[in-house]
Amino acid sequence: MSTQTSLTRRQALLLSGAAAAGLTFGSLPKWARSAPANAPSLPIPTLIEARNGEPVTLALQKGFHRFGHGAAVQSTGISSSYLGPVVRVRSGDTIPFRVENRLNEDTTLHWHGLLIPSHVDGGPHNTIRPGGVWTPEITIKQPPATTWFHPHPHGNTARQVYLGLAGMMIVSDGSDRDRGLPTSYGVDDIPLVLQDKRFGRTGELVYAPSMMDMMHGFQGDTLLVNGAIGPVATVPAGFVRLRLLNAANARNFDLRFSDRRPFFVIAGDAGLLPEPVELRNLVIAPAERYEILVNFSNGQPVDLFTGPDIHHESGPGMMMMPMGRRIGSSAEAEVLMQFRPDSALKVSVTRLPRELSRLAPPDVASAVAWRTFELNPMMGMMGMMRMMGMGGSPQMMGINGRSFSMGRVDVTTKLGTSEIWEIQSAAMAHPFHIHGVSFRILSNGGRKPRPEQSGWKDVVLVAEQAEILVRFDHPAAPKMPFMYHCHILEHEDHGMMGQFAVV
Ligand code: C2O
Ligand code: CU
Ligand code: CU
Repeated sequence: MSTQTSLTRRQALLLSGAAAAGLTFGSLPKWARSAPANAPSLPIPTLIEARNGEPVTLALQKGFHRFGHGAAVQSTGISSSYLGPVVRVRSGDTIPFRVENRLNEDTTLHWHGLLIPSHVDGGPHNTIRPGGVWTPEITIKQPPATTWFHPHPHGNTARQVYLGLAGMMIVSDGSDRDRGLPTSYGVDDIPLVLQDKRFGRTGELVYAPSMMDMMHGFQGDTLLVNGAIGPVATVPAGFVRLRLLNAANARNFDLRFSDRRPFFVIAGDAGLLPEPVELRNLVIAPAERYEILVNFSNGQPVDLFTGPDIHHESGPGMMMMPMGRRIGSSAEAEVLMQFRPDSALKVSVTRLPRELSRLAPPDVASAVAWRTFELNPMMGMMGMMRMMGMGGSPQMMGINGRSFSMGRVDVTTKLGTSEIWEIQSAAMAHPFHIHGVSFRILSNGGRKPRPEQSGWKDVVLVAEQAEILVRFDHPAAPKMPFMYHCHILEHEDHGMMGQFAVV
């Protein structure tokens, strides 16, 4: 077998530095036999510093990429062989973007997390034809946050994102140094794009979802960080800021360090928390972002793990699932990457900042409407049969009993108002996302949000029922509506999405 044959999870584990499956937390792993000498170093995406009024070009293109298990293979990326650059913008600036579609299929580029009007949002109505160019001029005015961008073409988002089209955008207000936060990109302010993939016999990414993959979302058996399998990051021996983005199609990561060290969440999807939140594990759902501070001052190497995706299914049993076990979800802890502190690197942050932002409690009384959204993974037997190839329609999931339709506006809200949206789900947890807004979680599963989820967000993982307070500050004409949808991309593509206007 050559190194190019398909990687099993266990092989990936070996490659990625865990000497054996079932690592025990609490005991220090044996570093001597841990990360192999040839473990790739963590790729740091090119940083594009966007400047007011100056064009930024992003090209969606084919390329060749080394994932870390052999030769370079065919891939797709955004101005890159795989994934995209990190674009850092200053809040208040206007950036003329130039998005080039160098693929041979339709695409779009959606700015997930930007608070902007719908005509520049890059949703399924902003199609860019093969060879075409889209030139939205975007004024970014919002609190500092880690956001991202990815294609959103009608019915084809999952495949395009899976094959590599996603990048991170950092919105900054220039005050992080005053806040006592690390700001040296790639040194102590590090983007980590987390994904899970399946590789084919030739070492290429394979996207061929089965019926089960459609139902659960497509999950891989090999973990990638910034497009590399089991990479190693060399970091200063002080506080380091990690910008975590879950860019997987469907998998929840349950992050923790191999020595169980605490770490500190400083920001959620749409902005900073009032103060650092100390945790030892953190669940990050598809499309969610968190920023954390990790203290590497003890100089010891440490692995970043994910526990099994126990959050994927919920409730009493898996409706219509013939198998007894979770499908596609890993049952073991798996290594994502390793950190190696290097005392030769300059440390800029040695203590934890106390106050990060002011956060008023959610103003529930401001809500002018209450709406309910029921997520429907399988709309009856018809959906099941279509899924099994007996009907042909790919649209078998929905919200409130209706599958997504480009021509139908489901909800109309009023610009400048707030509403309470109640999201209901059954049988499994769905990461629910809304375009063009940020929101506050009022309750999830009947409980107050956890501290790390109490700030501004644009994704909420709903296992049963959640209530969120949404503020509509950006316009969306009925002809160019915003989207709300499940961010399990297979669910989105199969109809678990709706459209809303803001007028
Ligand atoms: Cu991250 Cu509708 O998207
Ligand atoms: Cu979005
Ligand atoms: Cu879903």
